Amino acid sequence: MTLQLADPRALRDAFGAFATGVTVVTAQDADGKPIGFTANSFTSVSLDPPLLLVCLAKTSRNYTTMTSAKHFAVNVLSESQKDVSNTFARPVEDRFALVDWQTGAAGCPILANVAAWFECALEKLVEAGDHVILMGRIEAFENSGLNGLGYARGGYFTPILASKAVSAAAEGNIELAAVLEHHGEVLLIGDEILSLPSCDGKEGSPADILRDYLEELTGLSVTIGFLYSVYEGKSDGKQHIVYRAFASEGEPRNGRFLKPDTLAKAHFKTSSTADIVARFAVESQLGNFGVYFGDETVGTVRSVPAKAAQP
Ligand SMILES: Cc1cc2nc3c(=O)[nH]c(=O)nc-3n(C[C@H](O)[C@H](O)[C@H](O)COP(=O)(O)O)c2cc1C
Repeated sequence: MTLQLADPRALRDAFGAFATGVTVVTAQDADGKPIGFTANSFTSVSLDPPLLLVCLAKTSRNYTTMTSAKHFAVNVLSESQKDVSNTFARPVEDRFALVDWQTGAAGCPILANVAAWFECALEKLVEAGDHVILMGRIEAFENSGLNGLGYARGGYFTPILASKAVSAAAEGNIELAAVLEHHGEVLLIGDEILSLPSCDGKEGSPADILRDYLEELTGLSVTIGFLYSVYEGKSDGKQHIVYRAFASEGEPRNGRFLKPDTLAKAHFKTSSTADIVARFAVESQLGNFGVYFGDETVGTVRSVPAKAAQP
C-alpha cells in the first residue's frame, strides 16, 4: 500500500500488526503526586550504558509533567493486568487509587505484580513528530519472572490463554465459535434465541477449521483473529474456544450482523454467549479487547473489571 497521509488510522492499524508488551510509564510531578499512562512504545535500547525509550504523545495530559520530570519508571505489565492497562489508558481521575504501588528510590511509582520494572533518569528528550521520545538511563530494575501481557492489533493476549487453547484442542471434545465482526456488528444465528456461529473441533488447526466453516456458513470471505475466550462448558463438558474473526463486505447467507450494544434484552442460547456479546459490546467501545479463560461459572466472563470501569 502506498502511504496515504490522509489516513492515519490505516497507518496506526499497520503499526498494530507488530505485537508488543504493555507498560505503564510513571513519574512524580513537582508536588510529589504520582502520574502515569499506558504505553506499548517501550523499547530496550542499550545494555552499556543501560538505556531504554518510550514515546509519549504530545496530546497527553501528562506531557508537560512527564517531560519536565528528572526521573521516570517503566512498569512492564504481567498477564493478569489488563485492567491496569485500561485504567492508565482512560481518563480516570485518580488512576493510582485503583492499583497497589510503592515509590522507587528516585520517587517514581512502581506498580505491584508487574513482570518487570525499570526506574530511570531522563537521559534525553527527542522531538518526534506528534510524539516525543523519552530516553531513560536505568538506575534500578527488577524482573519478577511473571509472564508479560501481550498486545497486538488492538487486542490483549496472554501466553496462558494460548497454551490453554492448545491443551483444550489436544484433549478433544472442543467446540469452536467466533465473534465474527463486520463494521462493528457481530454475526448472530437464530431469530428468537441467538447464538454465535460455532462448529465442532476436529483434527487440524482450529483456526483453519473455523474459517472454512464460517465461509461456508456466510458465503463471505473470513479472516480469523486472536483468541477471545477459552472456557469449559459445565453443561456440555466441552472445551469452548472462541476467536475474533472478520468478514468481508456483503450480506451473510445465514445469520444477521447485529450491533452488540443493542442486544442487552436479547435471548441467547447460553449465558456464556450473552456474557461474550456483552463483553464485546463494552470492549469495542473502549477499543481494547481482552482475553478470558476459565469455565462458565468460575471467574465468569467479565466486560471490564469493576475497578477499571470507575470514572
Ligand atoms: C495498549 C496501549 C498502548 C498505548 N501506548 C501509548 C504510547 O506508547 N504512547 C502514548 O503516548 N500513548 C499510548 N497509549 C495511549 C495512552 O495510554 C492514553 O492516551 C492515555 O489516556 C494517556 O493518558 P494521559 O493523557 O493522562 O497522559 C496507549 C494505550 C493503550 C491502550
